[in-house]
Amino acid sequence: MTIRADESPWAPPPHAHLWPDTARVDGAGRLWLGGVAAARLTGEFGTPLYIYDEATIRARCRAFRDAFTGRWLASAVAYAGKAYLSPALCHILLDEGIELDAVSAGEVGLAVASSYPAERIHLHGNYKPVAELAAALDAGVGRVVVDSLEELERVESLARERGRRAAIWLRLNPDVETETHAAVRTGHAGSKFGLDMAAVDAAARRAAASPWLELVGLHAHAGSQLLDVRPAVRVTAFLCTAAARSRDTHGLAVREISPGGGLGVAYTPGEAPPTVEEYAEAVTGALRAGVARHGLEPPRLVVEPGRAIVAHAGVALYTVGPRKRAPDGTTLVAVDGGMGDNPRPALYGARYHAALAERMTAPAAERARIVGRYCESGDVLVEEMMLPLARAGETLAIPVSGAYQLAMASNYNLAPRPAVVFVADGRARLVRRRETLDDLLRAEVMDRTD
Ligand SMILES: Cc1ncc(COP(=O)(O)O)c(C=O)c1O
Repeated sequence: MTIRADESPWAPPPHAHLWPDTARVDGAGRLWLGGVAAARLTGEFGTPLYIYDEATIRARCRAFRDAFTGRWLASAVAYAGKAYLSPALCHILLDEGIELDAVSAGEVGLAVASSYPAERIHLHGNYKPVAELAAALDAGVGRVVVDSLEELERVESLARERGRRAAIWLRLNPDVETETHAAVRTGHAGSKFGLDMAAVDAAARRAAASPWLELVGLHAHAGSQLLDVRPAVRVTAFLCTAAARSRDTHGLAVREISPGGGLGVAYTPGEAPPTVEEYAEAVTGALRAGVARHGLEPPRLVVEPGRAIVAHAGVALYTVGPRKRAPDGTTLVAVDGGMGDNPRPALYGARYHAALAERMTAPAAERARIVGRYCESGDVLVEEMMLPLARAGETLAIPVSGAYQLAMASNYNLAPRPAVVFVADGRARLVRRRETLDDLLRAEVMDRTD
């Protein structure tokens, strides 16, 4: 069935801003996503299960596109595939006119195999192995984002071997501090990413002199899960200054400027990240000011959101298992997934919200810690929250699960990775089947040779 916002007795879930746009709760308190009952999804596909709401992904793509092109006409949105990538997602990106930021031959290969045009892909990475660079150039990626002087030489020689100029951006280290977790901070002076100003000068000089390199743009990225627009403003201003310097020193006209991605999202009820509009206003304002200040030819602006496009579209569904009481009175509620499909709490201390999918409006009854099934004490999905008394067999839903979860999932403990289902207009389609033991054994050499 299809749900319209005005239909009653459907209601948005509590803390609606954490859930996909189409999330609704029916009169019996049951969660529906994309017009499909969560119970139907778990019944048909099992758990752990990742649901993506197509309408939310499309709405976020459009919000970014409209917010940027409305303020700076020559703008493009390149989705950062590292947040989550699948053929089904590539098809949506293509429909919505979104470019792709990839970081490996794997991501490029998946996109190209999904009929996503290689020329709309930018290849990032602080160390792209030669074979991956070669494969990306052979596939025809649109831009290689050069991260070191060694890489510049490598790209030049690969382009020469192929008799085809390579279009490049230089990734700069903007030396911008951010208030985010150290592991997702990328634009500070000690970061492994990007070239410092001396290296930028050397790279620009070399690119200007090379018949095999076309220096098209400059890029920098401050970090991820940023709850403040100031780093993006500083990065954009910094890139304008660097573009002026490349023009004045090397006669290079920088045609594209990319301040990366990083817009944060709310994971828990109290968080309030900037809106896409506020972010676009800040970035395009800084660009406009930088262009005026340095008398630059207005460049094409390329922003690279990842998390802000897919995070809220995703919901992880788990089956509740055993309960235990911790000495401090907290109830430990175990679920059938955990750090294998969502390593973010263990990696970054990330915090999440959760709800019981069949009793979305039941009153909270106990202090619960939601723990996973993996043999690791740090396998905790939610450190502490008030939850209705969760019974074994019930479905626990964790919203804001669309970004950097499946993309970072592992087979730790040789647990199969979950199935993924896209929902839209009352229909559910499997886009990745649950892994099986055969999948886990596929790369193992099984012959006994001793
Ligand atoms: C170069 C670059 N662009 C874009 C992104 C996407 O960041 P986010 O998912 O926070 O928008 C990243 C992530 O770290 C990145 O390194």
